[in-house]
Amino acid sequence: MKPEEYVEQAISIAIEAGEAIKGIYLEGSFDKEVKSDNTPVTSADIAAHEIISSQLSSLTPEIPVLSEEDADIPFSERADWQRYWLVDPLDGTGEFIAGSGDFSVIIALVEHNRPIMGIVYVPMTGVVYYAVAGLGAYKRSSKGEVRIASKQLTKDDEPCLRLAVSRRQDPQSVLKLFNHPKHCELVVLGGAALKSCLVAEGRADCYVRIGPTGEWDTGAAQIIIEEAGGQVMDLELQPLSYNERESLENPNFIVVGSTHLPWDELLTGE
Ligand code: IPD
Ligand code: CA
Ligand code: CA
Repeated sequence: MKPEEYVEQAISIAIEAGEAIKGIYLEGSFDKEVKSDNTPVTSADIAAHEIISSQLSSLTPEIPVLSEEDADIPFSERADWQRYWLVDPLDGTGEFIAGSGDFSVIIALVEHNRPIMGIVYVPMTGVVYYAVAGLGAYKRSSKGEVRIASKQLTKDDEPCLRLAVSRRQDPQSVLKLFNHPKHCELVVLGGAALKSCLVAEGRADCYVRIGPTGEWDTGAAQIIIEEAGGQVMDLELQPLSYNERESLENPNFIVVGSTHLPWDELLTGE
C-alpha cells in the first residue's frame, strides 16, 4: 500500500493518543519515573504508547512498530525491516511534567531506512503537522489545512537567523557553534518535534540539538521538513540514518529551513 493510504488513519491514532495525554495533563495527576537512560517517563507516555502500538498493529499487522517506550529490539531483528512505524508517543515529557504545554505525539513511517510519512500532533493546540514523501507538508488546525513551506533564506538576506532552542538547555551551547552568534535571534520552545515543525512552517530558520535524542525524535520531523523545503542533518551536514545501527541514538543534529545558505560556513564555531 502507498503511505498516503494510511495517513488519515495514522493521524486519527495520533489524535486519540494526544487526547489521552491531554486528559491526564489537565487532570494533573500522573505517575513519573526516571528511565535507565536518565530521562523521565510518565503514565501519560505509557498510555499514549499503548494506544498507538495497539492501533497501528491492527491497522497494519504486517508492519512492525518501534516506539520509544518499547525500543529494546535487537538490531539483528530490526535489520531486515523494509518498513516500520517509528513512534515517540509523547515528545517533550520534561515539558509535560513542567506544565508548559509544549509536547506532541510523533508517528513516522520509515521505508528502506528513510522516513516516508510523518505526523506530529500537538494536543494543547489541536494542530496536526504531516507530510508524505512527494506530496508536500501540511498544517491542519481548526482553521482548516494549509500547505507549509520553510523560509528559503539566501546569502543576500539580512544576516539574522531565527534559532529555535530548547527551554531546558543553555542557549550558549548552541550559539557557540555559530560564526556570528550576535546575528541569531532565539525562539524558545520545548520538544524536539515542535521546534522542527516551527522551522518547517517558516517561523524559525534553524534548530540545533546538542545532546542525546533517539531516532523517534526526528523521523516524522525529517520528512515534514524535507517536504517543506528544508533538511535535517548531522553537524557534518550529512543526512541522519534510520535503523542502520544497533544504537538508536541520533548524533547532534541541525534542522534547516533553507537549502540555499552555506551552513558549513555558518557553523564553524566551537
Ligand atoms: C527534548 C530533547 C530530548 C528528547 C526529548 C525532546 P527539549 O527537547 O530533544 O533530548 O529526548 O524528547 O522533547 O524539550 O529539550 O526542547
Ligand atoms: Ca522525544
Ligand atoms: Ca518520548
